[in-house]
Amino acid sequence: MPHTITVLPGDGIGPEVMDVALEVLDAVSTRFDFEISSSTHLVGGAALDATNNETPLPRETIEASEKADAILFGSVGGPKWENLAPEIQPERGALLPLRKHFGLFANLRPGSCLPALTHASPVKNELIPNGFDVLCVRELTGGIYFGEPKGREDRNDEPVAFDTMVYKKSEIENILHVAFKAAMGRDKRLTSVDKANVLATSVLWRETANEVAVQYPEVTMDHLYVDNAAMQLVKRPDSLDVLVTENLFGDILSDEMAMISGSLGMLPSASLGEAKNNGLYFGMYEPSGGSAPDIAGQGIANPIAQVLSVSMMLRYSLGETAAADAIDAAVQATIDSGLRTGDLFTGAEGETKINTAEMGAAILKNLSYAP
Ligand code: IPM
Ligand code: MG
Repeated sequence: MPHTITVLPGDGIGPEVMDVALEVLDAVSTRFDFEISSSTHLVGGAALDATNNETPLPRETIEASEKADAILFGSVGGPKWENLAPEIQPERGALLPLRKHFGLFANLRPGSCLPALTHASPVKNELIPNGFDVLCVRELTGGIYFGEPKGREDRNDEPVAFDTMVYKKSEIENILHVAFKAAMGRDKRLTSVDKANVLATSVLWRETANEVAVQYPEVTMDHLYVDNAAMQLVKRPDSLDVLVTENLFGDILSDEMAMISGSLGMLPSASLGEAKNNGLYFGMYEPSGGSAPDIAGQGIANPIAQVLSVSMMLRYSLGETAAADAIDAAVQATIDSGLRTGDLFTGAEGETKINTAEMGAAILKNLSYAP
């Protein structure tokens, strides 16, 4: 049986980096002998353009994805669509509904900095001599993003706007189990991030985290308030292993993690639903960075985040672990050889500046030597 995926390149640099990612996927499928059946669909601004601004998420895109094992997503959004009604803008009209529709409550965002790239990190190099490797596990379908009531009205002749942060205990339990399991496969350290000194949702979060922790005696858990977590990330990122937190905090901390990694162009992400009986997940895989409209169309974007999104997809949704390992090793070897797209290039000795297609070619070449 072939693996079935939908490919949603979207906007900005999405289509350019997706081309590279699909070449890499094709190469590993040949080498590791599995078949991929993929179909490409419209999403975001590209869908708005094609439907005369009717929708950024056509029915057909959802239906095809419902039949697939995974969604490989590029990025959506850009200045062209920023003035449309909020509900049809690419982010709110496509990305959030996709997450909700497919129940993708667990967002895994690795934020690592390879030892070879510490000089690209804004964190002082003496603080991270060996780089760092943190995994942010963000709750993705609850909290203030989706809580009701949400809206705007006039009260005493003044506009008032409101959002609701709400969590059910079961939602907190679900994401904590994902985080504890991830920690079990890593360094067995978990930091739960909340604002329990102020927010009722966080008090429930902390209580629930302490309860779930009992089921994972091997994992050492601690708690940080979110403001302190933001500080620790720039002060001692190499002392953190797995972070778990609610939707909005995770949004903010994961951007901070991306920044300290040196480049947004390196980081993939996975958004997963419930585990299936075979231990795999339906998931959506996308770069942590956005559509980067400022460099779109120039062929200079870093394709690594999209390539590593393929690797996460192979691991979590398709069960092709050897192929995922090979991609990770090929990316590492490519970086070790000094090749850098513009986002990573510092002019240091041993670095060579290359474009998107050249980075793709280098990864493909390293793939044939990878273990
Ligand atoms: C992200 C993005 C989205 C979010 C936006 C585009 C809605 O910032 O994936 O982190 O806030 O979740
Ligand atoms: Mg974000």
